[in-house]
Amino acid sequence: MKLTSANINVMVKACRKASKVLIRDFGEIENLQVSLKGPGDYVSAADKKVEKILIDELQKARPNYSILSEEIGEINNDQSFKWIIDPIDGTSNFLHGIPHFAISIGLEHNKEIICGIIYDPIKDEMFVAEKGNGAYLNNQRMRVSARSKLKDCIIFTGGPRYDSVNRELSLKEYNSFSSKILTPIRKLGSASLDMAYVAAGRCDGFWQRNLSYWDIAAGIILVKEAGGFVTDFSGGNEYIQNKTILVTNSKINKEMNDILSS
Ligand code: IPD
Ligand code: CA
Ligand code: CA
Repeated sequence: MKLTSANINVMVKACRKASKVLIRDFGEIENLQVSLKGPGDYVSAADKKVEKILIDELQKARPNYSILSEEIGEINNDQSFKWIIDPIDGTSNFLHGIPHFAISIGLEHNKEIICGIIYDPIKDEMFVAEKGNGAYLNNQRMRVSARSKLKDCIIFTGGPRYDSVNRELSLKEYNSFSSKILTPIRKLGSASLDMAYVAAGRCDGFWQRNLSYWDIAAGIILVKEAGGFVTDFSGGNEYIQNKTILVTNSKINKEMNDILSS
């Protein structure tokens, strides 16, 4: 079964076009690793190129929508509809030649995310969701996992960033998980794909503090439409404002909340 709607089609088309450039540029990274200058500038140029293609495509199809995108910031238009874009999520992976990164686009309507796409161009995996219409991976319906015991789960996290407050808190949270339970914890380096993998049932939960809206916008609708939970660390809905996000299947949310808020 396929998820098609006018907005999803626009997002898919923009992603497919931008991913051609992304794949080509990724192919060059290996050569740049050994150059004296390294791939840093090249990657930030790739980021901007991909962002421009996405924005051009989205604006062509929906000239009135506003935009929030990681590299260029805000484009203000009709505020009731807004694209939330992360052109490359997983830049450090991209920079090091690790094939695990994605394009992420969410669509907000009246402050609520109603559509999302996360596209991993290397594995050709397209995760899409629309409010009320389910979540799909390459046209197959996705569901979160059914695992209910944390010891049987795999949990993802990311960070911490190098600012002292969040770093200390992140380390404390990481330690509570690893000391209380023997659940394997993974850091794969792309928050959007972490959330897409929860939606696909590949992993069972994900937590991280201090993420930006563009890291999580598309993931929010993917996880909700796949039957999962998205909360802040105290079980509430303020995950965007509080900058603490916990994403789980429907079984382990409370237990993870308890650990994070203890
Ligand atoms: C980063 C990734 C990473 C997360 C960082 C994000 P970027 O986004 O999502 O997994 O741990 O906090 O900033 O910089 O690659 O777009
Ligand atoms: Ca990001
Ligand atoms: Ca990015």
